[in-house]
Amino acid sequence: MPLPVLSAPPERVDIQLGERSYPILIGAGLLDDPASFAATPAAASALIVSNTTVAPLYAQALQTALANRFRTVHLLELPDGEVYKNLETLNLIFDALLGHGSDRKTVLFALGGGVVGDMTGFAAASYMRGVPFVQVPTTLLAQVDSSVGGKTAINHPLGKNMIGAFYQPQLVVCDLGTLQTLPPRELSAGLAEVIKYGPIHDMAFLDWIETNIDALVARDPAALAYAVKRSCEIKALVVGQDEREMGLRAILNFGHTFGHAIESGLGYGEWLHGEAVGCGMVMAAHLSQRLGGVDAAFVERLTRLIERAGLPIVGPALGADRYLELMRVDKKSEAGEIRFVVIDKPGSAAVSSAPDALVREVLAQCCAG
Ligand code: NAD
Ligand code: GLY
Repeated sequence: MPLPVLSAPPERVDIQLGERSYPILIGAGLLDDPASFAATPAAASALIVSNTTVAPLYAQALQTALANRFRTVHLLELPDGEVYKNLETLNLIFDALLGHGSDRKTVLFALGGGVVGDMTGFAAASYMRGVPFVQVPTTLLAQVDSSVGGKTAINHPLGKNMIGAFYQPQLVVCDLGTLQTLPPRELSAGLAEVIKYGPIHDMAFLDWIETNIDALVARDPAALAYAVKRSCEIKALVVGQDEREMGLRAILNFGHTFGHAIESGLGYGEWLHGEAVGCGMVMAAHLSQRLGGVDAAFVERLTRLIERAGLPIVGPALGADRYLELMRVDKKSEAGEIRFVVIDKPGSAAVSSAPDALVREVLAQCCAG
């Protein structure tokens, strides 16, 4: 599908991290415009890492845009899916880098969603102890969350994103045109991460999302442009204060403790990450209510919005014991105690433990029987 014509200069949001600072460019028609990549470090070679779904759609355009900057631009197509976000697939990136004789200046380009972005980032962090990389996210979820902030990882059979590194890209290029080819389920999954920013930080943004949810689901370009920009601004603010999640950054995991349990409990790929996060936010909102941070009207409001975004609001019947067991593997757990991101008042979040009995009540209320 042809990309929309570039009609305005890209929006720019900056991640402020001292010498690791970088811009996020947001706009239509950026992928095949060489100017989008002007900030890319100089090198002889580049490797585009994509997958078997995204590469046929967009790799040629990116290769053309990069042709003047690099003597060689290789392409690697990984198998597509969360189930492939593992050590074996990561090794395919190292095989390609070594096979092409890549050096320490070789630039990796992650062209795809969060799975490709997380794996390429981890490969960049570890190949020859670190080579530059650029994120070119093509899903809504990746544009509003995973491509920004430098979390890279692969999954382990015992836990999601358990093996990884903090490693910042040099540049993020969000071409909004790519969102037009996303399957509807993937668009909804991305909306979960957009919605997240409201309750944790910006109730005015939550109001805006509520007003514009139908336009977002219909992929209205202006609505998507604002959603991506505001999400990146909020993420930039949080990451700029707490790059390595020593405290504040954990609020970006609202809904994720329950969500990760759903994902790994069902088997990676059964529910999409964003679907699990959407449903996990419903559960986390109920827990927040029980802990006194929000009222029932807030929980109802958030639940309806998540539903209107096309996301599941009832958790799978894994059983409370299994949920608790899975949630103890979460990276926020300390000494076996599960820690949740809860809303302590609308527009503000905190990390909190919760008595198992309360969590069991929430699971009983929010999961299929
Ligand atoms: P994904 O990468 O699996 O992409 C979703 C699907 O859409 C895939 O089949 C992909 O091939 C396809 N696709 C991608 N772009 C397309 C396009 N433009 N047109 C058509 N199809 C397209 O999933 P995702 O939701 O982008 O990312 C989820 C992953 O991101 C999870 O592994 C999650 O753990 C990770 N994540 C990481 C962070 C972080 O901070 N690093 C944050 C959130 C999520
Ligand atoms: N997606 C959560 C984070 O980047 O911290």
